[in-house]
Parts: sequence; structure tokens; C-alpha cells
Amino acid sequence: MSNHQIPALSEGSPVSGALESLRIKQLEEQSAALRNSVICAFNQLLDLKDLNTGVHSTRLAEWGMRVGQELGLEESELQNLEVAALLHDIGKVGIPDAILRKPGRLDADEYALMKKHSEYGWAVLRMLPGFERAALDILHHHESFDGKGYPAGLKSTEIPVVSRIVCVIDAFDAMVSSRPYRIGLPYAEAVRRLNEASGTQFDPVVVRTFLSFAQAEMSTVFAAAGTSVSSAL
Ligand SMILES: [Fe+2]
Repeated sequence: MSNHQIPALSEGSPVSGALESLRIKQLEEQSAALRNSVICAFNQLLDLKDLNTGVHSTRLAEWGMRVGQELGLEESELQNLEVAALLHDIGKVGIPDAILRKPGRLDADEYALMKKHSEYGWAVLRMLPGFERAALDILHHHESFDGKGYPAGLKSTEIPVVSRIVCVIDAFDAMVSSRPYRIGLPYAEAVRRLNEASGTQFDPVVVRTFLSFAQAEMSTVFAAAGTSVSSAL
């Protein structure tokens, strides 16, 4: 061996441990950057289909995270929750525009096709390393607490907790948001409907947790939903 060659570090030495920690940190940073890039790329895809709700969906992800934190979810679950809250409807990219944009009620066949969006979203996201769990959470975001939802008819705690959270904030979002063909519901009516379906469609603990801070942040809620507080009240 020449004098210029660096001898191999012995395993377990302090220098080797420090290098290992540095390597792990770099990998974690790469993984976080990749995750953010994927979220951005899919958000742009939603934009292309005119399915993104911009600031609104970001606000919803924040509410979802807040519910998750108050329910004591672990950091890894919170990361999945963020992905699921932002991309839960990514599968709608695979639904024909005639169905997505139909202003009136969907007929049985159209509704059956529309319901496929949660499976489509799962099928795409599960291919990405690190997104497998979020893909499953997306698959189940239309399950109902009483087992009458889709696609699997799971009930209660059989439904992943992230899916139960996304289900509630997604429904609230849909209720209070204004669309080209209708004005969003007033806050009080949206709350009444959430409470009415608490325990049947929605997890009561998630509803209670969400409403515990939604009321206090009503103006932000409605600014995000495109409805003014005065018209909402
Ligand atoms: Fe959905």
C-alpha cells in the first residue's frame, strides 16, 4: 500500500459514525426533496385538468395536519396525511371531463365511473417509492364510518385514520366552496351537516376535533373557500 492511500475506517470508530450520520441526513434530505417535487408535479397535473383548488387545498391540508396533530399522529403519518390531503383526488385525472364538469346530478353509470377516482389515485401513487402508504390512504378517502362507503366498505377504525381525516375536511371543503354553478353553503349549515353525518358518514372524533378550531378560524376558512364571512353567516 502506498503512503498516499487512505486506510479504510474501522467500523464503529467515531469518524465512521459521523460519516454514517451525515449520509443518513443526506438521504433524508433527498427523500424530502423528492417527496416535495412529486407533490408539486402532481399539483401541476391537477392544474392542467383544472382540478386544483390552489390556496384552498393548501389551507385544507393545513387543517388536516392540525387535526392529525391534535389526534397525536406520528410524524410519518402526518407526512402521509399532507400528501393525501393535497392529492386525494389525483385519480380524477382519469375521469372523463363530461362527468367531472356535469353541473347536474350524475346518473348511476356516471357515478359508478366517478367513484373509480380513489382507485385510480391509489394505482398511480403506489408506484412511487415512499408514497405507498399515502396511496392506501387515498384509496380509502371515500369510505364511510358506518361501512357504507367505497371502494372497500371498511368501517370505523378499519378505515385508516388519515383517510378518515381527509374524508371530513374534503366534505367540509365541498360544502362551503363556491362553484361556477352554485354558491357555497353558509358555515352554520356546513357545521350542521357535518354533525348530522357524524358517526354515520364521518368519524365523530375527527368531526369534533376539526370543529373545535374551525369555528375560531372561520374568516380564514371562508377566505380559503372563496366565500365571504358575511355572506356565509
Ligand atoms: Fe374524492
